[in-house]
Amino acid sequence: MERVNLKGLELSRYVAGYWRILDWGKTPQQLLHYLESHLEFGISSCDHADIYGDYQCEQHFGDALKLKPSIREQIEIVTKTGICLPGRKGYDLQHYNTSAGHIINQVEQSLTNFGTDRIDLLLIHRPDPLMNADEVAQAFSQLKQAGKVLHFGVSNFSNDQFKLLQSRLEQPLVTNQLEISPLQMASLHDGTLDFLQQQQVPPMAWSCLGGGRLFSPEDPQARRIRAELQAIATEIGASSIDQVLYAWLLALPSKPLPVLGTGKVERIQTAVAAKDLVITREHWFRIWTAATGHKVP
Ligand SMILES: NC(=O)c1ccc[n+]([C@@H]2O[C@H](COP(=O)([O-])OP(=O)(O)OC[C@H]3O[C@@H](n4cnc5c(N)ncnc54)[C@H](OP(=O)(O)O)[C@@H]3O)[C@@H](O)[C@H]2O)c1
Repeated sequence: MERVNLKGLELSRYVAGYWRILDWGKTPQQLLHYLESHLEFGISSCDHADIYGDYQCEQHFGDALKLKPSIREQIEIVTKTGICLPGRKGYDLQHYNTSAGHIINQVEQSLTNFGTDRIDLLLIHRPDPLMNADEVAQAFSQLKQAGKVLHFGVSNFSNDQFKLLQSRLEQPLVTNQLEISPLQMASLHDGTLDFLQQQQVPPMAWSCLGGGRLFSPEDPQARRIRAELQAIATEIGASSIDQVLYAWLLALPSKPLPVLGTGKVERIQTAVAAKDLVITREHWFRIWTAATGHKVP
């Protein structure tokens, strides 16, 4: 598995996404086994957020880590903060909070949940209209100095939001985690991926399969994309349509790191094999054309 250097932080090319772990219904022992299985494929980076599973996913993952503490040294933990969900925490309304106090408190909570002394990469989950960049910078520098967070990034940020925050930081933002797939191509055309390529900041790509929408029988756009992926899979000898889709994603010159959402080892194995597939420019644009429903101008 290729290792990717993000301004000093090494992640695996593919990242295991842990948003859906409560849906998988795995015991801590089974979750540990799943983690060990994707580690065998070289996927060492694990993506989380404080709010996943109504604030419960980090703890569940931490319970698995506790069964084999030495595994912590073999993985990189990515987590996010900045969204506040009503319910469990007593908020009345879903909202954003990027104040220094909230960021620091949530990191402390994440460290406890994971049972670790450090987060490898902390992302601001979503752009916050009330974000004070100086305050975020102060929180980041405090967490970095304490050794509690080693690297920082953002998610779902526009270029201007990225530049604003970067302008106040001592350390580089190492990624912008974005939704990228044939079902969501906004960042390919609004300058976001161009900017990241220029900055040599590889994006992380979430919901590469549209969160499963790619497989929806009713969705006409998904049906068009599936048909084209299947035709290309047959032509190039790929074993599944998601494999062709990952090859399409990896062809982007900003070099995204796909965050895989599956809880099934066999689907991880298929995704990983996409690195050996060669798709041509025409293959790539056939998928683009199926996604948009028209040819390029
Ligand atoms: N930064 C952000 O704002 C943000 C937002 C959303 C997600 N994320 C991150 O990105 C990760 C991935 O997102 P995602 O879960 O939406 O990714 P995804 O890979 O687009 O979707 C995963 C879903 O698709 C299903 N699936 C995969 N292959 C399938 C197939 N061949 N047939 C039918 N269903 C299939 C999976 O089910 P199985 O488990 O059965 O395979 C799972 O339910 C998350 O875990 C999270 O870490 C970040």
